[in-house]
Amino acid sequence: QPPQVLAGKKVAITAGPTREALDPVRYLSNHSSGKMGFAIAAAAARAGAEVTLIAGPVRLDTPAGVKRVDVVSTDEMLSAAEQAADESDLFIAAAAVVDFRPAIVADQKIKKEDGNDSDVLRLVKNPDIVATIAGRKDKRPFVVGFAAETEKVIEHAKGKLARKNLDMIVANDVSDPEGGFNSDRNQVTVIDQQGERTLPAALKTELATELVRQIAERAFPAG
Ligand code: PMT
Repeated sequence: QPPQVLAGKKVAITAGPTREALDPVRYLSNHSSGKMGFAIAAAAARAGAEVTLIAGPVRLDTPAGVKRVDVVSTDEMLSAAEQAADESDLFIAAAAVVDFRPAIVADQKIKKEDGNDSDVLRLVKNPDIVATIAGRKDKRPFVVGFAAETEKVIEHAKGKLARKNLDMIVANDVSDPEGGFNSDRNQVTVIDQQGERTLPAALKTELATELVRQIAERAFPAG
């Protein structure tokens, strides 16, 4: 059994993509498989935490000892996250949230015969889940975000750390075929006010154990 670095702590984790309907048969989403977030949920549970895993549409089994809440849209993920965060000491956002959703969800299938040649989609910005939790005055857990970047990885991640008022951010270069979306492996840099530490590339399951250790050390320094 690994060290119980999260014994007695309540942890909420978002994982996987969100999905935004365009019409009854189509949606906007991304390639997140949920593997990274599920691995962190499993590692946090092994480290003694009471874990709520807020999962977008993914094909993964629920890790042992973890309470899972399934959601589809960003709004659903936001409400589940707000509810779980009320009772959490730690909030980890590993989900790949769809940043924009269709301004109008069509009741019926959108037809190309209706004169829809281009500009069929008007998008509006989705709420930022992790920034909403991190912006709380009250019932604010320790908040860890992820940053999926394709260039200037560290610089962009530091920007998100500050802009979203996070306590820590885990930066991954998702242009690297060895890591990021849908891979079993990942390579990340953990960044907070005190500095940055690049971890060696590893299986997401192994990386999750190390991330949980580093997060616990920062979030709950007394032990
Ligand atoms: O799921 P896998 O296939 O295992 O892939 C793992 C991963 C690459 C998805 C994961 O490691 C990762 O990087 N997750 C964050 C993906 C992302 O969308 O990053 P971002 O840089 O766009 O967002 C920054 C942070 O804000 C993230 O913590 C994200 O969860 C959060 N966010 C973003 C937008 C939004 N509307 N609400 C949010 O909470």
